[in-house]
Amino acid sequence: MLMMKKLKIAVIAGDGIGPEVISSGKQVLSGIAEMSKAFEVEFTDFPYGCEYYKRTGQMMEEDGLEKLRSFDAIYLGAVGAPGVPDNISLGELLLKIRRGFDQYINLRPVKLLKGAPCPLAGVKTEDINMTVVRENSEGEYANVGARLYPNSPNEMALQTGVFSRYGCERVMRYAFELAKRERKSVTSISKGNALGYSMVFWDQIFDEISREYPEVETHKLLVDAAAMFFVKDPKRFEVVVTSNLFGDILTDLGAAIAGGMGLAAGANLNPERKYPSMFEPIHGSAPDIAGKGLANPLAAIWSVSQMLDFFGYSDWAKKVLESIETLLVEQKTLTPDLGGTAKTEEIAPAILDIIARR
Ligand code: NAD
Ligand code: IPM
Ligand code: MN
Repeated sequence: MLMMKKLKIAVIAGDGIGPEVISSGKQVLSGIAEMSKAFEVEFTDFPYGCEYYKRTGQMMEEDGLEKLRSFDAIYLGAVGAPGVPDNISLGELLLKIRRGFDQYINLRPVKLLKGAPCPLAGVKTEDINMTVVRENSEGEYANVGARLYPNSPNEMALQTGVFSRYGCERVMRYAFELAKRERKSVTSISKGNALGYSMVFWDQIFDEISREYPEVETHKLLVDAAAMFFVKDPKRFEVVVTSNLFGDILTDLGAAIAGGMGLAAGANLNPERKYPSMFEPIHGSAPDIAGKGLANPLAAIWSVSQMLDFFGYSDWAKKVLESIETLLVEQKTLTPDLGGTAKTEEIAPAILDIIARR
């Protein structure tokens, strides 16, 4: 008899609303494993996060990356809590994993589902449907810099952006391959008019890679204008490729125009599959609503859909996304950020119910 594939998932629920939304996502993935009979899923929980830091002085174990390495994927909630400096909590866990596992693609869909609230006037559902390919391993996040002359009148901080040819080329090629497959355009977002080294280099490499894909329509925008067009004319964007920091900022804006932080998912991919990829909602630990059952787990559930896609279960990935859309259209079981009164824990059963009904 053929052995059924077992997906081994490392779970880092993390801080604040992380554990609340991850619990919902796990339920959905387990439910799908049962329904599909195509695979089994085995979760291994890791206690890493700010509580762990307060107890041990570290965000994860010394050999944390080695422990995570053998898993098929990592499913992460959110990291960050009052009392622990954000640069430590994120730098030594989330960013350490992204960098350590060379997850150089951060794939963030900005797609307005039917029934999702949109603050923009005159926008149709189909007008907001883009995939942001955010560079996820270097750029402004390279963590290269220095603090000089601390506690003196001339103290200073230096933070250097790192843009390598290798790093730019690989993220751009990924974007072009995606666009080619899906017959979409690619828009590069940069800032060559002010950042005369890094972004001029980015633009030059984008032109070079564009020439390898003559069949793909391309556009180039400065990031300030791009932010304006996200609001004024989002339908011009299909596949977007941009640097680490610009991608971070633009995808919160993307979340805002496509239903809110409770609906925005992201996949940190190592496309070569040399290391595990990591799936997460893009929102943070939301200390303002943590522990109250108010968190919307749909972003975490959408990242389950991304995980299914990555593992090749595209039909199930699609079903998850369609079930989120149905939930939004029916307007019966929604959390307060979407105008409903449902608790976090009511969402996963409602999603599984919709999938089972189809
Ligand atoms: P945040 O995303 O946590 O929250 C921003 C706002 O969105 C808050 O008002 C919050 O209540 C709301 N919100 C976020 N997710 C929601 C959800 N699922 N349902 C309903 N409402 C939701 O951003 P922040 O407040 O800037 O950051 C809080 C902490 O999280 C900080 O420590 C920050 O560094 C960290 N952070 C972590 C990640 C991550 O782990 N991936 C991402 C962003 C921020
Ligand atoms: C995100 C987050 C992280 C980022 C932070 C928490 C380091 O905002 O995933 O969007 O900036 O990448
Ligand atoms: Mn962010």
